[in-house]
Amino acid sequence: MGEGKNLVGVDIGASSIKVVQLKESRKKFQVIRYGYAPLPPQTIVDGHVMSPGAVVDGLLKIFQDQKISQKDVAIGVYGQSVIVRKITVPMMTAAELEEQIGWEAEQHIPFDIKVMSIDYEVLRKRPDAGQMDLLLVAAKKDEVNDYTAIFREANLRPVVVDINAFTIQNIFENQQGLPDQGTVALLNVGAAVSSLNIISGGVSAFTREIANAGNSITEEIQKQCNVPFEQAEAYKCGGGPTQIVPQEVHEVIQSACDGLAGEIQRSLDFYLATSGESEIARIYLSGGTAYLAPLCKAIERRARVPVSVFDPMGNLTVDPKFVNEAEMRARAAQMVVALGLALRCDKERRA
Ligand SMILES: Nc1ncnc2c1ncn2[C@@H]1O[C@H](COP(=O)(O)OP(=O)(O)OP(=O)(O)O)[C@@H](O)[C@H]1O
Ligand SMILES: [Mg+2]
Repeated sequence: MGEGKNLVGVDIGASSIKVVQLKESRKKFQVIRYGYAPLPPQTIVDGHVMSPGAVVDGLLKIFQDQKISQKDVAIGVYGQSVIVRKITVPMMTAAELEEQIGWEAEQHIPFDIKVMSIDYEVLRKRPDAGQMDLLLVAAKKDEVNDYTAIFREANLRPVVVDINAFTIQNIFENQQGLPDQGTVALLNVGAAVSSLNIISGGVSAFTREIANAGNSITEEIQKQCNVPFEQAEAYKCGGGPTQIVPQEVHEVIQSACDGLAGEIQRSLDFYLATSGESEIARIYLSGGTAYLAPLCKAIERRARVPVSVFDPMGNLTVDPKFVNEAEMRARAAQMVVALGLALRCDKERRA
């Protein structure tokens, strides 16, 4: 998709840091480095980094252990501090747009744009109508600066900042291609956040983030079964080879999944009601919580849309010299954001 060398994709999630480095040769991608480091609970709360030190340590450890020498990275962001809008502007040249974008942003962003960092992408040009559609993205400079400081301490240089929802779209497009007809939903259910990106006619038509994901299911087990977080987490993930998961836990998981599926369904219904479209053909689920089978079933039941777990590594090869392939493939659904970021290059130009 871009020019130059691939950046190292770094995804700082609420539960863990994920890192991927890809190498392209003859249009095929190979994973040449992979890193994963769990973060202690409460390191990141509501998208804010509460313990920057834990994140810096995790990054340093991954880059050292995995012998990643490249320091230029692509990072992903999400959260309420990021605003994404599809807007329509009169046809203009790239230079004119660069000049106008601040003014255009002011009309659509409900914050003082002086405190915001603005980015955009041309989605479609419609010369007949004298208009073009843009995707406008704005993030609070404060938040961006917090992250910048963390990366500086970890001796890394963020060259590209992307929105998690779009990085998932990029790796999906790279692996499966985007259907140019009809509508599909890409849904990432992580630890703290579920992010939804609805793709219609090959472009992103709607994104939403829901502050409810795997952690809330763990917390429900913790509360109802009166066990510590780690135990609840182990129960949720199947208990391991030696543990028997009590029946009560299954019931708690079932009901928590049902609640989460209900929230997701409301977002899908909102999209259908406002877009005038009649159906979503399929939901592609990713994120660690995609491994929770009762959630997949609950979403299918509630939304009446077939759900598949998206495999972002289906068409990737892996360099066995540096990458533990079995471990990485077992976590593939958690790696989507890092993989999408790893597709970005250091000399990309705006389309
Ligand atoms: N096998 C499994 N079964 C059920 N849940 C799982 C499994 N493996 C991981 N999870 C859950 O997935 C979540 C972590 O997923 P992921 O790594 O995608 O989140 P994150 O990126 O750290 O968080 P976020 O995207 O919300 O910031 C945790 O809640 C974890 O309990
Ligand atoms: Mg995540």
